[in-house]
Parts: sequence; structure tokens; C-alpha cells
Amino acid sequence: MKLKLGILVSGNGSNLQAIIDAIEQGLLDAKIEVVISNNPEAYALRRCEKHGINYVILKHEDYTSREEFDRAMVSIMQHYEVELVVMAGFMRILTPEFIRAFPLRIMNIHPALLPSFPGLHGQKKAFDYGVKFSGCTVHFADEGVDTGPIIIQAVVPVYPDDTVDTLAARILKEEHRIYPQAIQWFAEGRLEVKGRKVFLRDGGSPAPGVLINPPLTMF
Ligand code: GRF
Repeated sequence: MKLKLGILVSGNGSNLQAIIDAIEQGLLDAKIEVVISNNPEAYALRRCEKHGINYVILKHEDYTSREEFDRAMVSIMQHYEVELVVMAGFMRILTPEFIRAFPLRIMNIHPALLPSFPGLHGQKKAFDYGVKFSGCTVHFADEGVDTGPIIIQAVVPVYPDDTVDTLAARILKEEHRIYPQAIQWFAEGRLEVKGRKVFLRDGGSPAPGVLINPPLTMF
């Protein structure tokens, strides 16, 4: 049985594309039942058209409150019997009501190593702060902003000649690998959540070693 996905987008949709590609390559055992966009101009919708994926545009200005907007999203998700909601560059904060409708069944991706640099522009915040490593995080959504239990993270170095854009591109490349992977683990029923911690059943150990940037010169 394929995992039924409902994907929320607002923009470019490159993470949506990575999920589509992983499904089409037979790596991800899922089906995208519906994509919802709050932005009619989102390029993500062109991607849906290209791949024959069903989508719905919900303009938030047509709703009188966040709650009403989110209730409309919940009914669409329920109509399509969605088993996992995937936030892929969705630029709105979900109401507690939406979160409670899908407990531990909503994933989000954030372009920084949470809990550092939550909220908008995670790449720029990390870059401006002067960190030597940044990366991306896939987590379950809870009622906070970027606070839910962490499933997987990828770390990338920050180089002296980086700009925000080169760093963001390096991070995005890893987003496209860790998001389909996290969804596939969910599809396989391998993610076990205990409090804040997510355990991967039958997962390997990370490669041994320590990342140091800049590299040591005295040892
Ligand atoms: C990504 O950087 C993601 O981490 C953040 O929003 C961006 C979405 O990009 N949540 P795309 O629309 O998937 O290309």
C-alpha cells in the first residue's frame, strides 16, 4: 500500500519535485493525493501539471480567519484520506486545530540545524551569525514554530567565500535528499517517537568521525 501524501506549498516547489522524482524512480513508496497551495502563482503548481498531480488553490484572503482557512485544508486532506501531510515551503503557520487533526502526521523541512535559527530565512540567519556549519532539518510539526521532534538532519560546511546564496544552494541540495528519505521511513513505519525523540528502527550508525571547520592545523 502506498502512503497517501497531502503536500502544502507556496512557492518554487523544489522539495515537491524531489518527492515526485523519488516516487517516479520507485524509491519512495507513496502517492501524492493532493497538493494545496495558498499562492495561485506558485511554480510548484506548474510542476503538478507537468506530472499529472491533483492540486487545489486556497487563497487565504478568501477566508475570514486562519482557523477557517485551516478547516478548509483539513477537509480537503480528509477527503483524499491523506495519511501524511508534508509541508514543502508552505509559508503559513498552521493553527493548533490543523496540527491536532494530524498528530505526528505532519512533516516540515527547515533550512537550518534546528533548534538554531527557526522561523523565516534560516539560511541567512545562520550565515550572518557566522556559524561554520549549517544544514537542514526534517521534523514533525507541533504547535510551535519549527519546534517538533527531529527526524533527520544534514550538515554542510560554511566556506569563507560563501554568500547567503551559495550556502542556501548547498543546503537545498541536501533538503532534496533528506526529505524523501524521511517520508520513506514514515511509509515503512520505521519512525518511533518517544517524547521529543524520534528513533529509526533498524537504522545504521552515522559514519564515525568529527566535523571540524576550519580543519585543525596543529594536530
Ligand atoms: C526550503 O528552503 C525549505 O527548507 C523551506 O522553504 C523552502 C522551500 O523551497 N521550508 P521549495 O519551494 O521546496 O523550493
